[in-house]
Amino acid sequence: MKKALALLMALALIFSLAACGVKTDTQKEKTSSETEETAAASGKSLVVYFSRTGEQDKVGVIEKGNTKIVAEMIAEKVGADTFEIVPKNDNYPMTFDALCDVAKEEQNNNARPEIKDIVKDFDSYDKIYLGYPIWWADLPMICYTFLESYDFDGKIIFPFCTHEGSADANTQKKIQVAVPKAPVNKVLAVRGQDAQNDKDSVKKQIEDWLN
Ligand SMILES: Cc1cc2nc3c(=O)[nH]c(=O)nc-3n(C[C@H](O)[C@H](O)[C@H](O)COP(=O)(O)O)c2cc1C
Repeated sequence: MKKALALLMALALIFSLAACGVKTDTQKEKTSSETEETAAASGKSLVVYFSRTGEQDKVGVIEKGNTKIVAEMIAEKVGADTFEIVPKNDNYPMTFDALCDVAKEEQNNNARPEIKDIVKDFDSYDKIYLGYPIWWADLPMICYTFLESYDFDGKIIFPFCTHEGSADANTQKKIQVAVPKAPVNKVLAVRGQDAQNDKDSVKKQIEDWLN
């Protein structure tokens, strides 16, 4: 009789805890795995990048842009889709000095060069990894075109750049000003020459940054 009473009391306790919204262990387990499933289902990632071939600082003439190399590594690591920002009218010179002049002029004019394509189904992405080379201690102006073309509400931005000395050039703040709606994380800043010549070290930098 005593045993039956104890069992009844234990059952009553479990039911009353559940009724108060306190999770039992079984419920907790179920809820946390459900959360992971939900996050995985809705947490699509997109790596967006701008990058140039041709003559670049410290690396000579390159066939694959420094930032593109890093973008592909990140996309592979996090399982993201990719989108390359390609200019609608690609008038960028293939020699370094001439490219520097055009980039400076765009910056002086606060230009917004047009982008060739649009991201399909941008709304379906939660995490946006944004990659760019540092141009005159800033993002290339076409990256501002990108940032101003989409609604970033509810998204998180993870910026990464390649450079040859300026590191991130304070671009985290510049992106945050351009996109006030979305939190902007710390910038991963990689040397362009490392992207070409020291891929193992870049992979390590990516891992550290992602962690
Ligand atoms: C127009 C232009 C301006 C640049 N300005 C800077 C700069 O201010 N600071 C810096 O560290 N590197 C600068 N660089 C070097 C690039 O950031 C670096 O080479 C980068 O890795 C190029 O990436 P990409 O191959 O993806 O285009 C500049 C390069 C160009 C072409």
